[in-house]
This record gives sequence, structure tokens and C-alpha cells, in this order.
Amino acid sequence: MIRAFDRAVAATLPLVPRPFVRHFADRYMAGETLEDAVATVRRLNGRGVMATIDVLGEFIRLPEEAEATATAYERVLDAIAAERLDATVSVKLSALGIELDPVVAEGTLSRVLACAERHGIFVRIDMEHSGLTDRTLSVYRGLRGAGHDRVGIVLQAYLRRTMDDVESLVDLTPNVRVVKGIYVEPEEVAYRDPAAINGNFIRIVDRLVAHGSYVAIATHDRALINEMLALLDRRIVPRESYEFQMLLGVAEDIRHRLVAAGHRMRVYVPFGDAWYAYSVRRLRENPSIAGYVARDVMRSFVPGVR
Ligand code: FDA
Repeated sequence: MIRAFDRAVAATLPLVPRPFVRHFADRYMAGETLEDAVATVRRLNGRGVMATIDVLGEFIRLPEEAEATATAYERVLDAIAAERLDATVSVKLSALGIELDPVVAEGTLSRVLACAERHGIFVRIDMEHSGLTDRTLSVYRGLRGAGHDRVGIVLQAYLRRTMDDVESLVDLTPNVRVVKGIYVEPEEVAYRDPAAINGNFIRIVDRLVAHGSYVAIATHDRALINEMLALLDRRIVPRESYEFQMLLGVAEDIRHRLVAAGHRMRVYVPFGDAWYAYSVRRLRENPSIAGYVARDVMRSFVPGVR
């Protein structure tokens, strides 16, 4: 019933007026400007929470847009350093031009990394749709081979290939954010069954911590977080060797509980003027998010709706 509702909301999204999308996007993003992002990160840092800043803008068509993304990231990195924020950045290779031209992407990524390295700030490369997995992993391997050590990757537990990717990466002792995966993927490529995804998530984290990798556990799933806490305990993983990560505006009760218990926590802070495209695409990709959001909107417009 709820799933049918979620799908119906996602299907009608293109019809949703911008102010509505903005209403729910507000909860999940810092705002349109760098100043908005800085203010959000400062607030999080004040509560003992680290951040990773994402400049919205993966939908690019021209090399100039990839250059503009790189410039925006340089400004973010300069601001993190100038404001002494406890924050890293998360970048999408598509926003840096990898689907347009690998040479352009190499140039834009180098600019971002050079700036990050000047300031000693860590850069996480987000993982996108499965058509980009090989290219993303190969860029990561190339960067590590060239001596860029303050760079991390993301692995998606819903992909059937991911345990093999873990095996092929362990020699690098990679810093990995583990997520379930947000893109709509064909059944041959990705597990659909939530139990299979969670089982793979646990195996991936277990393998990585056993190899001494720093792991960022990015989920809001209560049961999975409890499994993770048990695993970290069983493997006696020191607190400085892992962190939890969550999206801005999601599951704040769980976030507070983990922070109060002394676990490192980082919140993903997206900002930028591409918020409309970002929100609509994310919502269409994951109908369950459309459902959460629609219920939120209804709650705020119709008193008493739960
Ligand atoms: P699940 O979807 O089962 O959600 C568990 C519970 O969390 C839900 O029941 C609901 O209560 C709550 N919840 C989850 N999402 C919510 C939302 N948007 N609004 C309100 N409540 C929500 N994916 C990817 O493919 N590549 C990437 O690089 C990243 N990067 C990334 C960074 C960080 C910091 C996070 C937290 C997530 C990502 N993701 C991602 C997204 C990830 O793959 C996944 O889609 C979401 O985290 C939702 O999955 P959960 O693990 O939270 O479980």
C-alpha cells in the first residue's frame, strides 16, 4: 500500500510546482549559496557532528559546466579552510565531466584535488549509476597510485559485484563509505531484496574493517545500524577507525543517539542552485523518498496527518 503510494507520488513529480519541491528540498539541503552551506556546517560542528559538502550539479552538458563545478569546489575548500570547519567534500565524477570527456574530468578533478591538498582536506568520490562504477574505481585506483592518499571512494551494497570490488581494492587499504545505493538498477546488476542488500552491507563492512580500512557507515536503517554496532564491537574496531554518516535532515534522532554514545558522525550537506533538478531526480529514482517527502508535506499542510 505504502509502496504504491510512493510510486504514485514519484510518477507525478514532474507536475509538482517548484515551491512544493522547494518545501521538501529545504529539509535535505543547506540552501543555494556557499554561505548557506557554511552556516549549516558550523551548526553541525557546534553539535559535535562533522560534515561533507556536496555542490549540487551532476546534470551537465558542457565542459564549461564541469569547469564551473571545479571552481565551485575550490571555493568550498577555501571556505572550509578559512572558516576552520570540520568538513570534507564529496564530488561526483559526472559533475566534473566524466560522461562528457575523460580528459576534461581529469583536469577538473586535478584542480579540486590540488586545492584540497593545499588545505589538507579529504575528498570523497561519490558512487553513481552502475554505468560509471568501473570508471570511478579506475579513477580512484589511478589517484592512489599517483600518491593521492586523502581520497576516498563509495561502495554500494545493492550491487552484486561489490564484494569482488572490495577484494580488488583491499591492497590499497581504501577509505570507503558503504551505502545501500540510490540509483534504479536492473535486477541482473543489483539486489532488490532488502535482506540481501543488508546482508551484503554487513559482509562488505566486515571485510573492510578486518583489513584495517577506515569505514564510513552511511545508513539511517535502525536495524542495520544495530548490526553495525555489534560488528564493530565484535571486531574491536577503535572509534577513530570508523564513522557513521547520514543525510542532512534524515533520522536526526538516531544521529543524536550515536553522537551521544561517542561515535564519530558526519552529515552530508548538499547545496547549490541545482536543487530542483537534484530533488526531482532523487525523488524519482527512489520512490520511497518521494513517499517520505509527500507525507512530510501533508503533515505540514494538513494538521493531524501522521
Ligand atoms: P533505507 O532506505 O532502508 O532507509 C532506512 C530508514 O531511513 C527509512 O525507513 C526512513 O525512515 C529513513 N530514510 C532514509 N532515507 C530517507 C530520506 N531521504 N528521507 C527521510 N527518511 C529517510 N548512494 C549512492 O548510490 N551513492 C553515494 O555516493 C551515496 N552517498 C551517500 C552518502 C551518505 C552520507 C548517505 C547517508 C547516503 C548516501 N547514498 C549514496 C544513499 C544511500 O545509497 C541510500 O539510498 C540512502 O542512504 C537510504 O538508505 P538507508 O541505508 O538509509 O536505508
